[in-house]
Amino acid sequence: MTDQQVAGAPTRCRRLIVVGLGLIGGSLVASLRKRDEQSGGAAFAEKYLGLLQDDASCAKACELGLVDHAFTSLSALETKLGLVGEDDIIFLAVPTLATASVLPALKDAVERGAVLTDGASVKGSVVSDYRAHLNCAALHNVVPGHPIAGSEKSGFDAIDPDLYKAHRIILTPLPETSSDALDRVQRLWIEVGGEPVSMAVDEHDEVLAATSHLPHLIAFSLVDTLAHDSQNANIFRYAAGGFRDFTRIASSDAVMWRDIMLSNKEEVLKATALFRENLARLENAIQNDDHHGITGVFTRAKAARDRFTAMLSQQSFTHSQALMTQQSATDKQSAELKASNTLTFDSPTKSRSSLMLNYNAQPGGSVQGTIRVPGDKSISHRSIMLGSLAEGKTEISGFLEGEDALATLQCFRDMGVVIEGPDKGKVTVHGVGLSGLKEPQGELYVGNSGTSMRLLAGILAGQSFSTTMTGDVSLNKRPMGRVAEPLTSMGAAVKTAANGRPPLIITGGQSLSGFHYEMPIASAQVKSCLLLAGLYAKDAVSVTEPAPTRDHTERMLAGFGYPVERKGSKATITPGGKLKATTIDVPADISSATFFLVAAAITEGSDLTLTHVGINPTRIGVLNILRLMGANIALSDEREVGGEPVADIRIRYAPLKGIDVPEDQVPLAIDEFPAIFIAAACANGTTRVSGAEELRVKETDRIQAMIDGLKTLGCDCEATADGAIIKGGSLGGGHINSQHDHRIAMSFAIASLRANAPIVIEDCANVSTSFPNFIELARQVGLRVHEVQAQ
Ligand code: S3P
Repeated sequence: MTDQQVAGAPTRCRRLIVVGLGLIGGSLVASLRKRDEQSGGAAFAEKYLGLLQDDASCAKACELGLVDHAFTSLSALETKLGLVGEDDIIFLAVPTLATASVLPALKDAVERGAVLTDGASVKGSVVSDYRAHLNCAALHNVVPGHPIAGSEKSGFDAIDPDLYKAHRIILTPLPETSSDALDRVQRLWIEVGGEPVSMAVDEHDEVLAATSHLPHLIAFSLVDTLAHDSQNANIFRYAAGGFRDFTRIASSDAVMWRDIMLSNKEEVLKATALFRENLARLENAIQNDDHHGITGVFTRAKAARDRFTAMLSQQSFTHSQALMTQQSATDKQSAELKASNTLTFDSPTKSRSSLMLNYNAQPGGSVQGTIRVPGDKSISHRSIMLGSLAEGKTEISGFLEGEDALATLQCFRDMGVVIEGPDKGKVTVHGVGLSGLKEPQGELYVGNSGTSMRLLAGILAGQSFSTTMTGDVSLNKRPMGRVAEPLTSMGAAVKTAANGRPPLIITGGQSLSGFHYEMPIASAQVKSCLLLAGLYAKDAVSVTEPAPTRDHTERMLAGFGYPVERKGSKATITPGGKLKATTIDVPADISSATFFLVAAAITEGSDLTLTHVGINPTRIGVLNILRLMGANIALSDEREVGGEPVADIRIRYAPLKGIDVPEDQVPLAIDEFPAIFIAAACANGTTRVSGAEELRVKETDRIQAMIDGLKTLGCDCEATADGAIIKGGSLGGGHINSQHDHRIAMSFAIASLRANAPIVIEDCANVSTSFPNFIELARQVGLRVHEVQAQ
């Protein structure tokens, strides 16, 4: 429902009767009152009424202007204001165990048609109370609920008119609940900015036992232990931020929490038993000086908490990490304290996630200086994969801390690999050997990363356990049949959704046979997937590629002491070997460097040096293409790090001319075309790209996205089935949608250097998949681009 609809909507109910006006009930009335004031239209309810325990509370509630009238019983209310029934809503905000005692008095009103809902933190016991006290006709009007919002404070003083904004409200409708009653309660919560979702009663109690009841139990117990059992009476004097953050919730309403524990006894005890088991394991690890065991628990927990922090702040993981390191320790504590006031536990809430990250790029600017772009994405993925499958400890430096590579890292953590970091590009992987991976607890989530899904498919096909791999909306549209089909021919059991799309369901325990595959498309991901599956096959696996593709997998396998035989276009892996841990220095990513190469190539007076860039011959299509267009590029300090060639690249402005891009360069520059299209749009003459149909199945259809965007900027260009024809000329400004594709976003950011009006690029959060500090470096060299959050 939009704000406009809400503002103009008629009164939603005759009377809202709130039973109990503490934090939960009081905040609901306060929120509705605030909404009424701000909307300027009809109030949500004609009257707000309270049913409270004693006269003093009634007087206080009226004095505070919270309710129009308050009573100590429903009969007193009805005597004064008439029978409660149809068009009235009753909100029960009493301690969970008190529900049964108030229901007999409310029964007739609910039977007459009043909708009854509640805010109790446990649903199973409350639903039993409803069933015990209300008949079937009344149950039609009952909508059990639980707003996932709160605070350790209680009573009138804790009331907060914004408590429910952007918070989930879990509703657990009964089979008897009418759709009308459900609809009315949903709308009640929407009016105060909440986001109602429906859930089964059992599921609610299980989830909340783990995410809310257990932490409260531990906090109460810890504070009690320290306060009463400790030898040191002054112990709290020495307690610092950690203690404060961890124990804030021990100051919550004691009786309410006692009731919650008792009403959700079974689930709470299950959660405590699991926690006790894990705690004992950790105690054991400490007892036995098991560094590896302790590091495993702490690194996994840190990663999970960091992700949760990112989720709470509605930012990409890498973005929130960057902010966290910039903040002072104190700021960090207060931010976390603020975030932890919310018990949100799943995906981003609707209203907050409707904020979009856009780039605002002002025209003009310069390109000067020396920079190092982040680590190579392809190599970063592979370093985690092979490091995990190796025996021993692999030390990685220059690791790309972007969302895609972090997704791979998380998958291996989920499969039991202990991984330290990343910390400023440094990662330590405690390899488990080829057969040491463990079955993950749930699905492996790879986000936006096609490389993770395709390469991992090869590794997972050879495991004894089964796995499911899922990704984000964009990845779910990308073809996975290209790996599922050849893997199936090897004897793997790989299922995809319709048309070969994710998720991938891989059944373990299959025997993989030797296999030769003539790849129909030039794809390093398919080649790598099959070579990795070959590590687990009974016989040699070979792949022939129709054109050379990046060979990082082959090079890195050799670095881990597992050589891949190469004959012409055929790569062969023979099973039976082992991977030995090594050190990996990840070069800067030439795909990320490309945005700055093109930036310098199109901007008069520019002089830019990019250091430590990977110049693997299978990746330098962009250098070849830009040189053919006339760019002035010089390499220096060419060297090799960990089996990969690197160099410093200096580029100075020289006018570009349009060319026919040689098709043999396409696979060698496949990720660089969005930026090359910008170079073409700024060149003299026409550039033709062909043989690049693969661009249509990248993070988005990159041919269409680029041509649409360029046309918006006034460029004369057209898409073809397998490429584009672009006439160089001047560029204007406009609004571009990046289609959620990092490389489209960055390409149009650099186009601003030659535009004659501002360019607004929408939906740029995904830049953090490959280049988390793009804006920082762009501004450092002289681009006039900055980030804006927009609705
Ligand atoms: C990659 C290979 C390329 C590339 C992708 C990364 C890799 O994909 O586009 O960004 O790391 O192997 P294809 O192999 O599908 O062309």
